Order: sequence, then C-alpha cells, then structure tokens
Amino acid sequence: MPDCTFFTTAIDYTNAAPHIGHAYEKVLTDVFARFEKLSGRSVYFLTGVDQHGQKVQQSAEKEGLSPLEFAQQCTTKFLSLWQQLGVHYDGWAATTDPLHKQAVQRILQQLFASGKLYKQAHRGFYSVRQEQFLTDKERTETGEFGPEWGEVVELEEENWYFRLSEYKDWLLGFIDGHEHFVTPSFRRVELRNAVEKLSGDLCISRPKNRLSWGIELPFDTGFVTYVWFDALINYVSFAGYLADPDSGLPRFETLWPAKAHVIGKDILIPAHGVYWPIMLHAIGFPDDQIPNLLVHGWWNISGAKMSKSTGNVIDPAALAAHYGVTALRYYLMADISTGKDADFSEERLRMRFNDELANNVGNLLNRTLNMAHRYRAGVLRKIASPDPDLAQLAHRDAPNAVVTYTDAMAHYQVDAALDAAIQLARACNQLIESSAPWKLAKDPAQAERLDAVLYHLAEAIRIVAILLNPVLPDASLSILAQLSVDTTPSLHDAVWGRLEDGHVLGLPVPLFPRLEPPPAAAD
Ligand code: MSP
Repeated sequence: MPDCTFFTTAIDYTNAAPHIGHAYEKVLTDVFARFEKLSGRSVYFLTGVDQHGQKVQQSAEKEGLSPLEFAQQCTTKFLSLWQQLGVHYDGWAATTDPLHKQAVQRILQQLFASGKLYKQAHRGFYSVRQEQFLTDKERTETGEFGPEWGEVVELEEENWYFRLSEYKDWLLGFIDGHEHFVTPSFRRVELRNAVEKLSGDLCISRPKNRLSWGIELPFDTGFVTYVWFDALINYVSFAGYLADPDSGLPRFETLWPAKAHVIGKDILIPAHGVYWPIMLHAIGFPDDQIPNLLVHGWWNISGAKMSKSTGNVIDPAALAAHYGVTALRYYLMADISTGKDADFSEERLRMRFNDELANNVGNLLNRTLNMAHRYRAGVLRKIASPDPDLAQLAHRDAPNAVVTYTDAMAHYQVDAALDAAIQLARACNQLIESSAPWKLAKDPAQAERLDAVLYHLAEAIRIVAILLNPVLPDASLSILAQLSVDTTPSLHDAVWGRLEDGHVLGLPVPLFPRLEPPPAAAD
C-alpha cells in the first residue's frame, strides 16, 4: 500500500501520435515517482489515455474505423512508448474502461440528484476543433474567431450545464488560502486572474446526434458527457473512487489526495485550475482533499509550438531508437527547467550527453576503475585522508551535492538536481588531474595517498550513481554494478563512507558511448 504519495499526470489524447511533449511529461512524472522510491517512500503513479470526444470520432471516421478501434490503435502507440522509455506507472487510466464509465455516471447522477446540473437551450457559435461553444471573448479585434478555433459553425441545441459560476467565490478563497495549490507560483497568479473573470456555467453534455462517442448521461440518454468532464474524473475513478469493493481498483482512501497532478501549461486554465477543483468541491471533497497541480512548460521548436500542421513534431520513439533511452531521458530532464518552456534541439541533446555523461561521468568511472585495477587489483583501502582536496570532496562537495539535489527534487527542479550530480563528477575529474594518481603510483612513499584518492573517487561515483537513479535508472544500476555495489539504490546510502575497507571494485564497461549526428544531419 503506498505511503502517501500519488502522482497523477495528464492523460494523452488518443487522437494524436505521441510526441516529445507527451514523452517529457511522462518521463518527468516517472522521475518524481522514482525519486520518492529512492527516498524510501512508496508511490502510486497513474497515467493513461483520454479516448472519448469529437476529435476521436472524426479521426476514426476518416480512417474508416470505429472510434473504439481507432482509440485502441493510438493507445497501443502510447503504451509501447512508455515501455520503451522506462516510464513505470502503477495505474493505467483508459477512459473507455467500464469501471471509469461507472464512476463518471455515478458522479453525474450524484450532481444531478443534488440539483447541481440543469438543462437549457443555447444558440451560438461552435468550434468543431475545440469542441466548444465560443463567446464574444474569443473574437479577435476584427470580430472574427481566430484560426486556432478551426471550423466555426452556428448551432442551437439543448444541453446539460454544471453550475460552475456558483463556486467562483469558493474557488477564489481556495486559491488564496492554498499557496501550494499551483506550482510554479506565477501560474497560480495567472489562474487567480482567470477565475476573477469567470462567468457562466459549464456545458457538460453533447447531444448524441452530434457526438455519440462518449459516456452517456445516466439521467438523459440522448446525451453523452463532455470529454473534459469525463477525462478529469480519471484521477479519481482509477484511484477507486465510488468503485465496488470487488472492482480490483485500489482503495481510494489509501491513495487520495494525490501529491500532485502533473500537467502542461495549456491545460491549467480552465480545465485543471477551474473545472477540476470545482467539480471535486461540488462532489463533496473537503478543501484538504483537493490535490495540488504541478504545471510544466512546453518544448518548442525554434521558439514555435510543435504542431502536426507545420510538420515540426518530434517523434520520441525514433529519437530513443537512435540515441538510446538514457540520452533522451537525460536531455528531457536536463535541458528544461520545470515550469518554463525550452527549445528542443537534437544538437543540444548530443552535446549535453557527450559533455556531461560521456566525457564527465563515464570517463570518471572508466578512469577510476582502470586505475584501481592497474594499481591495486581493484581493492579499496578505506582511508580518511587529511589532505585538503580529499577532505573537501568527502566533507563538502559530496554532502553539498546531496543536499542541493534533494532540495531541488523536492521542488521538482530536476535540471538543478542533475546539475548537482554532474558537478560532483566534475570535482572528481579535477581531483584526478590535480592528484595525478599515475605519478603517485610510481612513488612508494605516496602509496597511502594513492589509496585515499582511489577510495574517494569510488565513493563519490557511488553517490553520483545514486543521485542519477531517478533520471537514468539503467545507467545508475550499471555504474553501481561496476563498483560491485549490489544494494538497491537509496538516498539514505548517499552518505560518505559506505564502501568498506577491502571492497573489490568490478571491471569497467563502457557506459555512455559518445553520440554522433545521424548520417543525414552529418552532411
Ligand atoms: N487529454 C488531455 C488531458 C486530459 S487530463 C484529464 C490533453 N491531452 S494532450 O495529449 O493534448 O496533452 C497531454 C499532455 O501533454 C498535456 O499536459 C500537455 O500540456 C502536454 N504537452 C503537449 N504538448 C507539449 C509540449 N510541446 N511540451 C510539453 N508538454 C506538452 O490535454
């Protein structure tokens, strides 16, 4: 049973092929979950696919498939990508799952019975692409609806509405009273400003004659549920909310509230920042049971949004196949600061891998193991040297790296955490240069210092390997195996002096082979 932590992350639309943005979000959440485990806390990580809605229905029609067949085809691509990238989730939320449908219908029925839903006719302009009615707020200065809305048609229809606006004051108070509701804090300010302007209720249905691919309203069978209302519920439905005891789902009270919902900046307002807390509040969740939101930024291409129409979508599966999962996970975690945007660059992926992993960590490991075998048959002597450069590594650089790392991870700043590990490895490489073990090896009077240098290097590498574990699980285990450390990586072991006197190091195995540009790009 998980201790306390429960990360859920936005579920991906199955009407699109997975791209680098999806990969980033899942790897990021996977890293948070692995960090919790490394810290000795158990964790439950839920992710999944958002399979209903008009876009799925339309894409399926175009391909001559049923919506379910189409959604399943897309789902397979996401599932295989998460496997390829080492994204280890505990729960899989596919919104066509009958257990999810049951929870959505139970929640709708409850809201209906308590008078929080009403039916009304509405005439207005409707964006087919965004699946929503537009208001004058969406018009440009010239009075048009911008191209982002795609085809806009005039429609009149009856629908079911959720009394969203009744909860505006509650939400403002909740945001004011919950400093950590949204991270980073500038997004909380953005959200608050948006809530100030909130007016009108939320249309939560679509008439079946326009959209049949959705979850039927339990109290009015001519309608299906609006896809966002359905999708948001995944966070509770797959955690066992309102589930029958024999459903096989987790027990809700053991998982809730999630420590964070990890989402992209585009789906904070209104979906996760307005609809979701209000939905939970209206269902009866007390304020302390409303989960926090961690809002990450976007990967762009040369400052522009990735989009299928401009053809600049990056395929993470192809990148991982070419450069390896380690390189891709490292780049996605090291070259963006959580909450901000970054520009995707394959050249930077290679550069950072070569500079920070191949030339720095890999080289350090390789040199250390080679020297230890050449000069000492791989056997370490545990020596606490008074030499200032060694004492600095043991008593300042290594503990500082662990503190900086832990603090950065606790604040979701994976790039800063990685940097702490990389800097520690750099300090070790500098120690190799300054202490020149190859010279010490030639002077019997320096035998003790040579032993001390080798011990300090091995010990620092062991700590680097532990720190790298959430981002680079395979590389971390490989480094530890080469050091002949066979305990499960744990942050509790990231303290100086765990390698015993007489410990025998393993043999070096090349770990981070330098990356070269693909042949086409090398021309
Ligand atoms: N299906 C909805 C989420 C429902 S959650 C109840 C959705 N799906 S999505 O496929 O469009 O996006 C999934 C996640 O990927 C979102 O959090 C979104 O912000 C993120 N990203 C999409 N493009 C991205 C980038 N270019 N960069 C980083 N993340 C991006 O929204």
